[in-house]
Amino acid sequence: MVATHNNLNISALEAEYSHKSPREILKFALENFDNLAISFSGAEDVILVDMASKITSNFRVFTLDTGRLHPETYQFLDEVRKHYGIKIEVMFPDAAEVQALVEEKGLFSFYEDGHKECCSIRKVKPLRRKLNTLDAWVTGQRKDQSPGTRAQIPVIEVDSAFSTPDHQLIKFNPLANWSSAQVWEYIRALEVPYNKLHERGFISIGCEPCTRPVLPNQHEREGRWWWEEATKKECGLHAGNLEK
Ligand code: ADX
Ligand code: SF4
Repeated sequence: MVATHNNLNISALEAEYSHKSPREILKFALENFDNLAISFSGAEDVILVDMASKITSNFRVFTLDTGRLHPETYQFLDEVRKHYGIKIEVMFPDAAEVQALVEEKGLFSFYEDGHKECCSIRKVKPLRRKLNTLDAWVTGQRKDQSPGTRAQIPVIEVDSAFSTPDHQLIKFNPLANWSSAQVWEYIRALEVPYNKLHERGFISIGCEPCTRPVLPNQHEREGRWWWEEATKKECGLHAGNLEK
């Protein structure tokens, strides 16, 4: 029987699953939540799609098309769609909101007054629209991606940022305890397709104007919103991390 999230004890599950493998965590998520989708950014979180495809043919994937992704990321999203024979649900921002922002402030306002406003329109609101239709989502977040904001992320949690009083949303972070090295070992060993930007020094990949490659030994997060303060780089998709 598929359990609903109302009869699951999330903190007990987190304690039980915190030492399990990403595959076991993902399998639990897929087997216990009918109404769940994987949130795929078009970067190395592709391994979640790969793992899911080896567990079941019945899984959902969505992506947030901000309109500002790299051409390589668009190509990669399509490559993944074809490679795995899956549908990728695409969330777009509200056209009127993008239009108003661009008309008022131009296309690069984030360099002047910060990324929050643009991220809110292009990422966070479309994400909220999608999450309002789901009971659970799966992300590729890892602790090692951001010592400042992600060091505490659990493998299973109640999503404090996107749950509402009437709707509790569960968030799975199966890769939380994996390192970047483990992710890349998986990609290489299993010949998983990857975003070609990784061959050009990009580690963390977001929107084109807000992502750049990093130098040797620079932390991957330094390539994101590099003109802003270094420690608290979250765009709002994972706003709950800032409370931990
Ligand atoms: S971000 O908040 O800084 O942009 P990051 O790039 O580290 O997030 O990715 C962490 C996880 O957030 C990804 O593995 C994915 O689950 C989700 N995510 C980030 N960007 C997107 C996107 N454009 N579409 C769908 N999911 C995304
Ligand atoms: Fe806008 Fe940059 Fe945020 Fe993308 S990452 S939504 S371009 S501010």
